[in-house]
Amino acid sequence: MAKVKKMYVCRECGYDASKWLGKCPSCGAWNSFAEEVVAAPSSVPALVASRAIEPARPQKVQDIECGKTVRLDTGNSEVNRVLGGGVVPGSLVLLGGEPGIGKSTLSLQLALTDNGMKTLYVSGEESAEQIRLRADRIGIHNQNCTVYTETLLENVVAQIEELKPHIVVIDSIQTMASSLLDSSPGSVSQIRECAATLLKYAKSTGTAIFIIGHITKEGTIAGPKVLEHIVDVVLQFEGDNNNIYRILRGIKNRFGATFEIGVFEMTGTGLKCVDNPSEILLTHYAEPLSGVAVGASVDGVRPYLIEVQALVSQAAYGTPQRNTTGFDSRRMNMLLAVVEKKVGLKMFQKDVFLNFAGGFKVADTGLDLAVIAAVVSSYYDTPLCDGICFAGEIGLSGEVRPAPRTEQRVAEAARLGFSTIVISGYAPKPQKVVEGIEVVRINSVGELARHIFNTQVEEQD
Ligand code: TYD
Ligand code: MG
Repeated sequence: MAKVKKMYVCRECGYDASKWLGKCPSCGAWNSFAEEVVAAPSSVPALVASRAIEPARPQKVQDIECGKTVRLDTGNSEVNRVLGGGVVPGSLVLLGGEPGIGKSTLSLQLALTDNGMKTLYVSGEESAEQIRLRADRIGIHNQNCTVYTETLLENVVAQIEELKPHIVVIDSIQTMASSLLDSSPGSVSQIRECAATLLKYAKSTGTAIFIIGHITKEGTIAGPKVLEHIVDVVLQFEGDNNNIYRILRGIKNRFGATFEIGVFEMTGTGLKCVDNPSEILLTHYAEPLSGVAVGASVDGVRPYLIEVQALVSQAAYGTPQRNTTGFDSRRMNMLLAVVEKKVGLKMFQKDVFLNFAGGFKVADTGLDLAVIAAVVSSYYDTPLCDGICFAGEIGLSGEVRPAPRTEQRVAEAARLGFSTIVISGYAPKPQKVVEGIEVVRINSVGELARHIFNTQVEEQD
């Protein structure tokens, strides 16, 4: 067998050297060199070989022939939604997420769905028995699902060629290794080589390949950024391990938009699609509670209503405690400063705890108004009026700015039977008036207290 030629390439700037270096002489980065195969024996698929042999010719954009993109129905409504209506044959989809979040469960579920497709589930992490046990929990609906426990890339590729499945799952890319490289599985060069080879097979055979990728402590997909560049679609599975809800988010999609999210509930029998997130994120209490407010949010294009809970209590120590779950703590501090200055509440003496329902992480600034309403309600220990919800962003001067897609938020609130929604006075007038909901427009946080309580509030000290 011909000798494989290797070299070391800087991950930061691409500088190459014949031996490993601690510091890159070109860009000065430390510990950035990774082993790469540069010349592979001809029998072995190399990146270059994936290029079409026939040279391409330039053509006018209107003359390019394109058939309608056919999409395969994955049999899972939320996955279809995030992918933009189904998976495109020949695409390489990277599914990232923290350990234990449900990546293996979701992908095995896709492989086991009964939609008339041949699927291959390759696992380098679990034994065939473990997968069978999991499959029994989920339910084996597809008689054409093959399980293959292997970590050697060449064997996996050979099986893909032999079985010709429609969908392949690789669990996970960090456990796969090519025999061409000496480096251990999970190293930069192995990940890169495996992904490039799989891409070649996906494109040449029209197989849709889902590759699972681990996530590092910093929250990025382990391995080089180059992995995200190679694949067509990057999906991220998020959620709180202690909670049952999970969100599937599109980060990159060469075949569609990335603003859709998929919501799932982890049950004893796998992940269940949640068609209507608002219903799980709202609790119907026997009697009204103080410190609870409902925010009308939009994630991507999907509107949902979510409950915010705040607890404002007398600080026991000099420096008050500020604690948030699911919300940016710096943003909460900013909002509390605005409340202090513009509403006149003595927040500097108070501990504040903030919590979002369902363990959801929210980054929507349109929820600012709901956060402030919950804080004010807890401060006065007085529940808000019945059937009220909020959608507005707060500026540093205490002004209420329009939340993006306010109209959609109002419509979702009306659909769920809310009687009042407080929005920004600066929001554009809706083209269509939503029936059945009173829209209260306010321009500053100072006006908020006037609209949210039924009774006169008294300061609690
Ligand atoms: P898993 O898919 O193994 O996570 P990942 O591959 O992302 O590391 O999911 C693990 C968790 O899901 C595990 O803690 C058990 C839970 N689970 C259920 O609650 N119900 C189920 O039906 C299955 C299969 C798993
Ligand atoms: Mg797993």
